[in-house]
Amino acid sequence: MHKVERLSEEQARPILPKLVALLQDSVHSGSSVGFLPPLTFEAAKAYWLETLNEVAQGKRILLVSSEAGDVTGAVQLALVTKQNGLHRAEVQKLLVHTSFRNRGIARALMGAVEESARAVGRTLLVLDTEQGSIAEKLYEKCGYTRAGIIPQYARSADYSLISTVLFYKLL
Ligand SMILES: CC(C)(COP(=O)(O)OP(=O)(O)OC[C@H]1O[C@@H](n2cnc3c(N)ncnc32)[C@H](O)[C@@H]1OP(=O)(O)O)[C@@H](O)C(=O)NCCC(=O)NCCS
Repeated sequence: MHKVERLSEEQARPILPKLVALLQDSVHSGSSVGFLPPLTFEAAKAYWLETLNEVAQGKRILLVSSEAGDVTGAVQLALVTKQNGLHRAEVQKLLVHTSFRNRGIARALMGAVEESARAVGRTLLVLDTEQGSIAEKLYEKCGYTRAGIIPQYARSADYSLISTVLFYKLL
């Protein structure tokens, strides 16, 4: 059965290799999620260890979807810690493994991330994504409002510069 769970740092540590594999899968299939291929196991592990550190400090929420022991996807909520932004959070690293795509898992993760945001009193969500990506359409379908486009924002796998679309949602 498929499930989405909020994981503590202790709960996430044992599945670290699976989280590494999830990130490598997305990067190696050409997604713009902060890294360029090839993404080594060590670099991906270092990223997740930093992420889990922030989860342990209460600065970040990690949601993981799984099915029969396989990690199928994940999403994070970075909780703004500035005094004047405690109502705000950024949705980051929505990832669904290529073997499990187009089955509604991203939708389920986005629903769960909203629920988690509400539960911790965050009423404004922001995010950005590559212009023209599947995720851009997905966020619109999830009720996010397009705030604007920044050109030449990030480098893609083929080293060209791509634009990013900024979105927000008031809960
Ligand atoms: C974007 C991503 C998270 C979508 O995950 P997913 O689990 O396949 O998405 P879902 O199955 O929940 O589908 C969500 C919607 O997108 C649409 N969609 C999904 N894959 C699609 C595709 N290849 N082409 C067109 N539409 C697609 C679905 O039709 C669905 O719309 P619906 O709910 O109206 O039917 C996934 O492709 C991914 O991990 N991509 C790489 C990482 C990435 O780019 N993340 C975003 C970073 S900001």
